[in-house]
Amino acid sequence: MAALDSAAGRDGERLQKVLARVGIGSRRTCESLIAEGRVVVDGEVAVLGRRVDPGTARIFVDGAPVGTRSDLVHYLLYKPVGVVTTADDPQGRPTVVEIVPLEPRVFPVGRLDTDTEGLLLLTNDGELAHRLTHPSYGVEKEYVAEVDGVPTRATLRHLREGINLEDGPTAPARAVIVGDAQGSVALLRLTIHEGRNRQVRRMCEAVGHPVRRLVRTRIGPIADRTLEPGAWRPLAISEVRALAEFVADQFD
Ligand code: URA
Repeated sequence: MAALDSAAGRDGERLQKVLARVGIGSRRTCESLIAEGRVVVDGEVAVLGRRVDPGTARIFVDGAPVGTRSDLVHYLLYKPVGVVTTADDPQGRPTVVEIVPLEPRVFPVGRLDTDTEGLLLLTNDGELAHRLTHPSYGVEKEYVAEVDGVPTRATLRHLREGINLEDGPTAPARAVIVGDAQGSVALLRLTIHEGRNRQVRRMCEAVGHPVRRLVRTRIGPIADRTLEPGAWRPLAISEVRALAEFVADQFD
């Protein structure tokens, strides 16, 4: 019995308390989730009375991982032009990790070109970062591109349906013109699910509208119009949760 008790986690905190603390809902709501069999801890459906070590337990609600580890940090940065998306640049250019706190060490989730600006996530949460960048989860990324010329409706359709690039055709995308095109320049909002190298620039170039300026404005459910270039902030618990739900895997 003693072995069973410790395997089920007689030590540790009550599961509903841990879930409530990270914003899943009230303790009573969390108890109901557990009773309904919607909470999985370390691969097993949890039962009421379950205790966990929040530092090590892998907890999922409805298939979405729940971040209970207090050592995990998640930052949202507005990367300015000229800053590189690496931890270390041999050419000595400024890097994104120098803008946010140095400890704990974080890494960028995916990348933006040096000449692209906009939203970038940085974290030490390897599991979440993996899911956000893995093609099978297909997280949406939204960009606003200032392009030369004004794309026609046929060109927009072409961008939506797929462009043949040298590394293969692009997946279906959303492409709309934002606002009124001014003379020889237009603003194009493009939403893509892939993360190929310089993809938006290459797509626009391929249809005859080279990009003058490129800004990433959304990553899955995360957007922030108030962040200035070079500014960053920690994600709110609700945002981390929204991200985790976005990349939830019902087979976890
Ligand atoms: N597409 C690009 O062309 N550049 C980026 O930085 C991101 C997407």
